[in-house]
Amino acid sequence: MKSWLCCAGLLAACSTFAVAQRAEAQDTTNNADSRAASTEAAMTDAERVSLLHGIMAMPYGDVKIPEGVPFGAGYIPGIERLAVPPLTETDASLGVSYVGGLRGDGATALPSGMAMGSTWSPELMHKGGARIADEAHAKGFNVLLAGGINLVRDPRGGRAFEYLGEDPLHSGLLGGAAVAGIQSRHVISTVKHFVLNPTETGRQFHNGIIDEGALRMSDLLAFEIAIEKGQPGSVMCAYNKVNGAQACGNDRMLNGILKRDWGYKGWVMSDWGAVRATDFAIEGLDQQSGAQLDASVFFGQPLLDAAKRDKRYRDRIADMSRRVLRSIYAVGVDSNPPSKAPVDAAAGAAVAQEIAEKGIVLLQNRDGILPLAASAKRILVVGGYADAGVLSGGGSSQVQGQGGPAVSLPTIEDGPFTAMMAQNFHRSSPLAAIRARAPQAEVVFRDGRYPAEAALAAKNADLVIVFGTQWMTEGLDVADLSLPQGQDAVIAAVAKANPNNIVVLETGGPIAMPWKDDVGAIVEAWYPGARGGEAIAAILFGDVNPSGRLPVTFPASVAQLPRPALPGAETVAPSFGGHGKPGQTLDIDYNVEGADVGYRWFARKQEKPLYPFGYGLSYTSFERSGLAVSGGANPSASFTLRNSGGRDGADVGQVYLVETPRGKTRRLVAFARVDLKPGEARTVEVPIDPRLLADWTAKGWTIAPGTYRFALGASAEDLIEETSVTLAERTWNYRQ
Ligand code: BGC
Repeated sequence: MKSWLCCAGLLAACSTFAVAQRAEAQDTTNNADSRAASTEAAMTDAERVSLLHGIMAMPYGDVKIPEGVPFGAGYIPGIERLAVPPLTETDASLGVSYVGGLRGDGATALPSGMAMGSTWSPELMHKGGARIADEAHAKGFNVLLAGGINLVRDPRGGRAFEYLGEDPLHSGLLGGAAVAGIQSRHVISTVKHFVLNPTETGRQFHNGIIDEGALRMSDLLAFEIAIEKGQPGSVMCAYNKVNGAQACGNDRMLNGILKRDWGYKGWVMSDWGAVRATDFAIEGLDQQSGAQLDASVFFGQPLLDAAKRDKRYRDRIADMSRRVLRSIYAVGVDSNPPSKAPVDAAAGAAVAQEIAEKGIVLLQNRDGILPLAASAKRILVVGGYADAGVLSGGGSSQVQGQGGPAVSLPTIEDGPFTAMMAQNFHRSSPLAAIRARAPQAEVVFRDGRYPAEAALAAKNADLVIVFGTQWMTEGLDVADLSLPQGQDAVIAAVAKANPNNIVVLETGGPIAMPWKDDVGAIVEAWYPGARGGEAIAAILFGDVNPSGRLPVTFPASVAQLPRPALPGAETVAPSFGGHGKPGQTLDIDYNVEGADVGYRWFARKQEKPLYPFGYGLSYTSFERSGLAVSGGANPSASFTLRNSGGRDGADVGQVYLVETPRGKTRRLVAFARVDLKPGEARTVEVPIDPRLLADWTAKGWTIAPGTYRFALGASAEDLIEETSVTLAERTWNYRQ
């Protein structure tokens, strides 16, 4: 087999590599643990340590990137004599990242995490994961820094768009499926950022404070489920602190929970620039990533020196390197090296469009204004750079197609990262797609810079489609939930001028909608990816029936949030990478909501959101009924969904736990996305993870004996039908 190293031009390495590879193939046990143990036993300490730190594979600092290594997030050299392949790492969950155009190539941009989350479809997540892994392979990468599953605790968090939602079961199942899809193509995936990484302000030094039980029932549970389902080769620890210790040097989280309680066998890699000391190795970190961003290559010579004098380090470097090797073997990275090949752009575009079409959420549809009749003669399209493309989120996850962005608007200066933080628009114009579907109409565009001008044009149109965009980026939270740069005023002016209007949103996450009652339809398209324009038009014209359901709560205002003021907004300057002053800490109290993230917080406070978690409309209608829940050792829920309207459509059945012997609650315990023809009904049975019925107490997971009440929901707020079941007491822990 032709190895990646050969393609990279390091020819001297080829023959040794190929021979060693044949020897490996003869290892018929094919057991990742035993293979890792025997390779590790044959290593020198210098070789062990060489696997434990890497560089950022882009021009930064005085590090030389070896010839043939593709520009991407990271690189860790292999060990030729033992046939250990190099690790070539690229971001991220939304596709092979653009790294500011350094490679000169493009890749398929999947829709944002929020759009993926809105599909409620683990199958589609798997398909998307497999697709971007194939592209990663074709570009020379064998590690995807994907699997972003932090819970959205604050809709202003700059990376909310990368994540899947606010519920641990939903994020865990969808994130785990994406990881499984990626690794099915012999590309290692991470899950990240472990753990509690909801906002970007002071991201390298904010300190999330939370009771461990609450964390185990929320953010940790999302990771736990994703790890069980996806078996990721690596877990990336976060920048922030958790209960006082940096997440990458956090004995309790890494050694105590991840490795001991959950028995995680892969390796923990640091986030880029998140390592502060060599003793993070003792606290549970296995590999230092992008070391030129740190003050020192802590996991290089200092680790080797420590291993010489201290048995604890000696044991650790053996364990750390075994963990890396184990994942290499378990995912088959050694026997399936990446080989550079052209990317199948059409296949990528088809997957991106499918995710966008299934993830777009129809929020409002007054008088059935959508789908659009083909009869409109004069259509006005306003704003959002809809003439050029669709918006994407900024930072390391940014992907661009061939030819680069359609429009690029840098917004904050931050040295070498400016290009990664531009407001980049994908080359998929909604205006062009609308024109293609309405050839009989005159379709006019106004950029929406002036509300008065847009309103004048609206008066002369039969129908107005106005775009609202909210750009989000890694490194920077948004100040509030308005549409920036006066777009709310444009929408309000257009709505006043012409009641026949539709608002299409391209936002990172939830926004406020001061104009909601004055507009006809509202379509939440998120950042819809490489074929976003086509997907939006397909929804508007009814070629596709909307089926997305919100994976996050849209608050009516920030006053309803657990922390109405964004933590650190007044004291910390925005910065992509800033470590802060020595010793600087920004404490954030997550005990306010604890495990009650998102819709659970709204239920607890009895607050009415703008749109609830799980909500979304369709062009058809559904009847939901027949909820039954069985208890016992393997609890499950069953329910029936029926398409009672006149079009093909998909519904997402949602079952919530609403009361336990401890009191009222609201927890998603089961869901299923089902495609239905008009008149068709299906009954589905979904297992319920017992952790969702339990609380974490001093004894571990604990189900209190008594009555548990469940509801079938059209959303977390719209509960249709209830049933109860009696459960016996049950307690379990990881050490039993
Ligand atoms: C981000 C990670 C990313 C890494 C490598 C960091 O800034 O937090 O999500 O994988 O960079 O690019």
